[in-house]
Amino acid sequence: MTEGTAHRGLAGGTRVIAVANQKGGVGKTTTVINLAACLAASHKSTLIVDIDPQCNATSGIGFEPQENPTLLEQLLDPQLTPNPIPHPTIPGLELLTGCPELVASEKVLSSRPDPAHSVARLLQRLPREGEGYSYIFLDCPPSLNLLTLNALSAATHLLVPVQAEYFALEGLTDILESFQFARENTNSELTLLGLVLTMVDIRTNLSQEVETELRKHYGNKVFRTTVPRNVRLSEAPSHGMPIILYDLWSRGAKAYMELTKEILNHGA
Ligand SMILES: Nc1ncnc2c1ncn2[C@@H]1O[C@H](COP(=O)(O)OP(=O)(O)OP(=O)(O)O)[C@@H](O)[C@H]1O
Ligand SMILES: [Mg+2]
Repeated sequence: MTEGTAHRGLAGGTRVIAVANQKGGVGKTTTVINLAACLAASHKSTLIVDIDPQCNATSGIGFEPQENPTLLEQLLDPQLTPNPIPHPTIPGLELLTGCPELVASEKVLSSRPDPAHSVARLLQRLPREGEGYSYIFLDCPPSLNLLTLNALSAATHLLVPVQAEYFALEGLTDILESFQFARENTNSELTLLGLVLTMVDIRTNLSQEVETELRKHYGNKVFRTTVPRNVRLSEAPSHGMPIILYDLWSRGAKAYMELTKEILNHGA
């Protein structure tokens, strides 16, 4: 693997944020969709790249997996130029759709040279080398597999959603070890953007205990904003909408707008 080649091709200070946690259902896709929509609404041109074979980020904002070429074909063929699709009602939001064929990525990508940088090379082939985007989000599958390593190797930053539940902290060491591995082997410039607590229920002691523990261990790496458990957030993807379109006045929308502000103020 080549050291530190990750995002060299992306011009103009584009922030490439991998949203990863090997635990399933912790709010990765919800965070990607809603942060991307809020940033685009704040006039920051934003691209979502859905590298999860489940394609939830794709369907969650009302798109279908693109074919001819699929994302996997685009990852494999250096001659193909990715062609992101603009969101119809949110100016500045674009998507490179996922594809179910990515389930085979482990096998097909690893037969190629430098497989960990397949996503990084794809981003470098974006029109104008991606310089039109302020932010690119990589929605990862719930696994520390080659796709997630690709995201960590292509990103400038890692964002880890942490669900406010009992076992949340146990799994964190695994994703943080993968972060270290990527820094040491594939992407020396990768930075931990932070951890964000999701599905918080302020009425339960458990949520409060998880938050206290998380802040005790990870200090200022934990975003001040926490995302509440909010039924509107869980309904929005079935309507193919980010929360700011589905219910702007919900607690979920408010939380993701606050988190967006924190990210903008963070200089990331
Ligand atoms: N803050 C929230 N409040 C209520 N429901 C939520 C919240 N965040 C996410 N959900 C719901 O929880 C489920 C899992 O969320 P999501 O798909 O974002 O997690 P994920 O980490 O991307 O999952 P996977 O690991 O399968 O990719 C979804 O049904 C989603 O709508
Ligand atoms: Mg997901």
